[in-house]
Amino acid sequence: MSPRSALRIVRAPDVVPQIAPAHPVVKWVGGKTRLLPELQARMPAKFDRYFEAFAGGAALFFRVAPTRAVLSDSNPDLVNLYRTLATNVAGVIRGLEKHRALHDETHYYKTRTRWNDRNESWPASERAATFIYLNKTCFNGLWRVNRAGDFNVPIGRYVDPPICVPEALRAAAAALARADLRRGDYRDAVTDAGRGDFAYFDPPYDPLTPTASFTSYTAGMFGQDQQRELAQTARELVGRGCKVMLSNSDTPFVRSLYKGFQIDRVKCARAINSDAAKRGEVDEVIVTG
Ligand SMILES: C[S@@+](CC[C@H](N)C(=O)[O-])C[C@H]1O[C@@H](n2cnc3c(N)ncnc32)[C@H](O)[C@@H]1O
Repeated sequence: MSPRSALRIVRAPDVVPQIAPAHPVVKWVGGKTRLLPELQARMPAKFDRYFEAFAGGAALFFRVAPTRAVLSDSNPDLVNLYRTLATNVAGVIRGLEKHRALHDETHYYKTRTRWNDRNESWPASERAATFIYLNKTCFNGLWRVNRAGDFNVPIGRYVDPPICVPEALRAAAAALARADLRRGDYRDAVTDAGRGDFAYFDPPYDPLTPTASFTSYTAGMFGQDQQRELAQTARELVGRGCKVMLSNSDTPFVRSLYKGFQIDRVKCARAINSDAAKRGEVDEVIVTG
């Protein structure tokens, strides 16, 4: 048989572009990765637009990978990171490769000082890469700023921290590129949410004890007045026909705010206590309306 007669015309199968599943690119206090099955079980099966207004690590957003989404947070560095990943993931990967090559204690503290220097001017991709670098190498992967807005976490004790994982960054960038990325207060993010849409809120926790508060994702505060306003916003959204889901600590105060909503208690591991012995499972609520 000649090589020619061995050729057969084979119809190409329909090619569906494979997009790798995306995951959070930063470790964030209150990250919801472990609660994802509970959250997904309570979300509506269908919705028009997805709104997540306290994005943080955005675990649920990355899991759902919605085609139409508004993703928002009040932390400007976090939103700049997401915007830069969406538009220039290659630049962020290059920046991270440089950090990976230089990583040691001296480089960490030099980078942290530079991060906090208000006079420094940064190319967006370098700033974004530096955010990820500090997040991956700092103690406990904890992003914490002081009242002046300075990042003040010491170096972590990791042998080989995953500073740059290009495939993971590209997958996250593809999901982010489909979203409307906004920076600011949660109320501004949901002004146009309405009938058929779905909004998920994961605000800073109502503290389980008066001293357990962790409110330092940004230099701002989220106290009981803000929790009340959020409950009011949730009611307004439900009134406009938007489906709402919210997670928070299981406290009498939170339960009182969401009377009339479905409130489910779930167990969640929290790792915000710097004393490992005091970390563990706590009760949270998932509120739906
Ligand atoms: C509990 S974290 C979200 C965790 C996230 N769901 C995850 O999976 O990592 C709360 C987030 O709310 C943001 N935040 C605090 N006050 C805010 C406000 N008034 N409006 C919007 N975002 C706010 C913080 O910057 C922080 O990223």
